[in-house]
Amino acid sequence: MWQRNCSRTLRNCMAIANKHDLVRAAAGARQRAVAPYSKFKVGAALLTKSGEIITGANVESASYGLTCCAERVALFNALTAGKRNFVAVAVVARAPGGPMPCGACRQLLVEYAPQAKVWVADSRALRAPREFSVRELLPAAFLEVPEDSVGEAGSKR
Ligand code: THU
Repeated sequence: MWQRNCSRTLRNCMAIANKHDLVRAAAGARQRAVAPYSKFKVGAALLTKSGEIITGANVESASYGLTCCAERVALFNALTAGKRNFVAVAVVARAPGGPMPCGACRQLLVEYAPQAKVWVADSRALRAPREFSVRELLPAAFLEVPEDSVGEAGSKR
């Protein structure tokens, strides 16, 4: 009984530590944001099932549309390092209630981190992140090109 309670407590402690570690990692990454145009610095950190943390920050371009959000930089960083099985992502910026991921990032999260919890935190309140699921951020997502739509030349419908 003691052991069961104890290990449950330990598990809870681990979960809490991971959450704050991840939010702190996102806050650290935010310091490396390259946002000379908007001056809005965002940091993101992904947590893998095995406990690895991979970070990213937003990078802006003079050609504004080329800007890449912190979430996508973190995701591309992680994916191209061979990381998979993301269990959470933390996003930090100086924004009341924390920064909400944009639509493009939500799409990528649905595709590559569908099970991840999303923790968003204001950089002035790192201890109070809000939690979302990827699915609730992007319901009814586009996930694949339907097979029978490929090579439809000649078809009227
Ligand atoms: N941005 C992010 O990095 N993540 C978000 O969730 C929202 C917006 C960045 C993109 C751009 O560099 C700046 O914030 C202003 O939109």
